[in-house]
Amino acid sequence: MSHTNHPALFMGQTQPDGQSFDAWSNQTLLMSMEQGGLNWPSSCRNGTCRTCFSKLEHGQVRYEIEWPGLSSEEKEDGYILPCVAYPCSDVQLRAGD
Ligand code: FES
Repeated sequence: MSHTNHPALFMGQTQPDGQSFDAWSNQTLLMSMEQGGLNWPSSCRNGTCRTCFSKLEHGQVRYEIEWPGLSSEEKEDGYILPCVAYPCSDVQLRAGD
């Protein structure tokens, strides 16, 4: 496969409401959700306050910051911070409790 700088478009979905949004590989999930008209809680937008905390039920994400404000257990359990997470595949998020 040849390397390309074109961003990939994945499908995002949120639970429990089942809304979908365009998830571009080159922008954060929070930004994509907002562009898609979804309301998602956020505050700091830089991976520290955990307001946007959610569970990744399907798919994979990557981070550009060293270590988002998640414990390693949370990471292993699939929790993510959408304000700093970029999709690597189609994704399904569940709002945090
Ligand atoms: S909005 Fe603060 S961690 Fe995501």
